[in-house]
Amino acid sequence: MTSPVNEVRHPLILHKLSIMRDKRTSAQTFRRLMREVGMLLAYEVTRDLDLTTAVIDTPLGPMDAPTLAGKKLCIAPILRAGLGLADGMLDLMPSARVAHIGLYRDPETLAAVQYYMKAPDLLDERLTLVVDPMLATGNSAAHAVRQIKQRGARRIRFVALLAAPEGIARFHTEHPDVDLFVAAIDARLNDHGYIVPGLGDAGDRLYGTR
Ligand code: URA
Repeated sequence: MTSPVNEVRHPLILHKLSIMRDKRTSAQTFRRLMREVGMLLAYEVTRDLDLTTAVIDTPLGPMDAPTLAGKKLCIAPILRAGLGLADGMLDLMPSARVAHIGLYRDPETLAAVQYYMKAPDLLDERLTLVVDPMLATGNSAAHAVRQIKQRGARRIRFVALLAAPEGIARFHTEHPDVDLFVAAIDARLNDHGYIVPGLGDAGDRLYGTR
């Protein structure tokens, strides 16, 4: 069975996203908002993490206090735009491990081409959050998750700011077992594989390049 698409559509996220979509928004503001949205999406995607308890002493006495169970989770940004979301996730979960997946898009075929990959050990015991703000054609997302699976990960979620219906379909054809978390789903892709209305090139807008 295909995993669901969790379209978060939280009012705070949608408001921040609207400012990010505006072409007049500076790189500095865009980067700050991406980080804030990364934190808010991390809150949603970790809602069902397992808990255990540890005995602690409060000033008034002992208690069994809830604490996160299991190995630290792994955040896996797709370079470079994924770094913007990952920064916000790390603000919320500073002890998470980080895997970096370097991909670029072949301009002719729009296929994902890998130039870098470095991941922490024991991925089979960690929840891995693969992150990229734009789930457009789905090629990079599908490639990145394939790489993470090859390194042993079994519990994987993909987190994006914006998705196109074409990208969601492509992604779930290859990875029906992976849950998607997106802030919003836009109308379509254009002929260059960009999301419309979208927000442009997320990497360029984050880092002021063109
Ligand atoms: N990558 C982007 O940065 N923007 C898009 O619209 C599609 C892919």
